[in-house]
Order: sequence, then structure tokens, then C-alpha cells
Amino acid sequence: MIWQPTAERLEEAAALLRAGECVALPTETVYGLAADALNPEAVLKVFERKERPAFDPLIVHVPEGDGWRQLVRGVPAWAEPLVRAFWPGPLTLVLPKKPSVPDLVTSGLDSVAVRCPAHPVMQRVLGLAARPLAAPSANKFGRISPTRAGHVEGEFGGEIPVLDGGPCSIGLESTVVDARGDAPRILRLGGLSLEELEKVAGPVALAVSEVELRSPGMLKTHYAPRKPLALLDGPAVEVVGWKPGTGLLRFDGRPGLAAQPQRTAVLSESGDLREAAAGLFARLRELDGDASVCQLAAEQAPARGLGLAINDRLRKAAGLG
Ligand code: TXA
Ligand code: MG
Repeated sequence: MIWQPTAERLEEAAALLRAGECVALPTETVYGLAADALNPEAVLKVFERKERPAFDPLIVHVPEGDGWRQLVRGVPAWAEPLVRAFWPGPLTLVLPKKPSVPDLVTSGLDSVAVRCPAHPVMQRVLGLAARPLAAPSANKFGRISPTRAGHVEGEFGGEIPVLDGGPCSIGLESTVVDARGDAPRILRLGGLSLEELEKVAGPVALAVSEVELRSPGMLKTHYAPRKPLALLDGPAVEVVGWKPGTGLLRFDGRPGLAAQPQRTAVLSESGDLREAAAGLFARLRELDGDASVCQLAAEQAPARGLGLAINDRLRKAAGLG
């Protein structure tokens, strides 16, 4: 059920959430499957609907303002400028949690991931529901995150109301930052780039080591299409032949492909990282769903700005982690 975000529908969504039901909501990053974060039975429905293992904790979404501070036990001084600069927006902070946050939300961890999303529909529902909302990306566990209302509908076969907020403007999940130590550490690359973070916070560490897996979003199996995906080492123009039935995801539209694959999608003709990020999951889904395509190949983005997060998602889609 895709709902247009009329005043009545927003009220209806908020009432469902207050009653412990799930509703899919748009954010500027990806669509989320939301439930009352303070109601464990409601949160359990999210895990069930997503077929998500209980060891993978959820992000708690909060309205603008200072109310979120009631969920956490203290914020380090270095994190305050990040909150001021990037909330509302694609930044999630992992902080020590208060006992009021149910263990189910945090998978028993002593920390909670908090994010203030910028999408006006999400903010209005947060205000009307008057409670924090736990919301993972609105896809079945391990699959490609939805960036359009129709993607969510496809994941859940119409069982869950989806408020249509249009295509997500950022298109990559939020950047998850561990804010428990003396300095920021990125647990998941995402819609806020490392460079933007560093402008405000100074040097930011990247938790990339497999043994340091503290955020299951770094699991290898995430964001997977159904068809096998191969990552190209270099530009697609240098490839002299494609396996029959290859669906090629190009980063940019530079001319001169030596051979034509079965189908080609381009993330950004001009090579713009923001445009590429915004369309990444939608293009992957289209190629994955094309009956004439048997396997996918993807060009990598330049390794800067949002390109790091794009390449991270492509590596995971390729099963490379
Ligand atoms: O942009 C986003 O973040 C989207 C939208 C809907 O807000 N949400 C999202 O949620 O991507 P999800 O559940 O797909 O990813 C949440 C990530 C996971 O990698 C999870 O492991 C991590 O956040 N996370 C949640 N709580 C955590 C905690 N206490 N410590 C470390 N990582 C945590
Ligand atoms: Mg997800």
C-alpha cells in the first residue's frame, strides 16, 4: 500500500506507530521500516518483517531538538559540533544507552545508534507519533536498500503501508560514527563523506578491519543483488569482451566502450558523485530485475567523497565485504 503523504495519511501513519504497528517511511538516505523504538513488541515486528537476525541492532530516529539526549548517557564534547553541523542529516551516532532503550533495539549492546533524519515526511511523522522510531532500511535482510516507495512495496508485497516521499535525495544509508571514544570512528561509510566529517571533527578513523566488526552493517553479505556481481578493476572502456547477458553498471558515461554488454546503466553521465550515489540502488535493482541479464558487472567510483561509500556498497553487493 503506497500512501501519498497527505495530512490524513500522516496522522494515520502516526496512529499506527503509536499502536505498535510498522510503517515504511521515507528518509533522505533510504526508506526505513519504522516502529515505536520504546515498544519491544513493535520492534520485534520489524525484525520479523525484515527477517533480520536479532544480533543486528537498529538505528533510533529522533525529531529535531534535544529530546534524543534522554536516550543516551552523555555525549562527548567532540561530538557536539557534529550534531550541530549535520543534524538533521545522514549521520548516525553510536552512544552509550540509557536503560529506557529496549535491549531488543540495540541487540543487547550497551550502546544505541541515534539519527535525526532530514526528510520532511519523516520529521512530520516523528512529531505526530511523539516517540523515537526504530527504523532499519526497509528491505529484507541482506538485500539492496530501497530508495523509492515502489522498492519497498516490492520487498514486502504490499503488506505494509509505505508513505511516498519521492526518490531519496542521498540514496546511501547514513554514515555510522562511533561516538564513545576520544575521537570519531566510522563504523559504516555512508551518505555523509569522510571529508565532510573531518572538516568539522578533525581526523576521523575508519573501522575497516574484519576483526573490528562492531557494526553488522559491515557484514559481507549486505546489499546483495540476486544475480552475481563482478567488480571491475579498471574502467569499462578497457574491457574487450563481456560474457553474454552481462548487465553493466557504469560510474560515468565516458565514450569508447570497446564492446557492448547486453545492457548498460550509467550512474552519472558527468561523473558526479552525489548523482551517482542517489541512483546507485535503483540502477542495481533495475539491472538485477532485467530478465535479459544473467550477471552484473560494475565499475568502481573514484575513491574520494561519496565514492568511498559507493565502492563499499558495490564490494558488499559483490560479496567481497
Ligand atoms: O540511513 C540509514 O541509516 C537508514 C535509514 C532508514 O535511516 N537506516 C539503516 O538502518 O541503514 P540499518 O538497520 O539497515 O543499518 C543500521 C546500521 C547497521 O550497520 C547496524 O549494525 C548499525 O547501524 N548499528 C545500529 N546500532 C548499533 C550499535 N549500537 N553499535 C554499532 N552499530 C550499530
Ligand atoms: Mg540495511
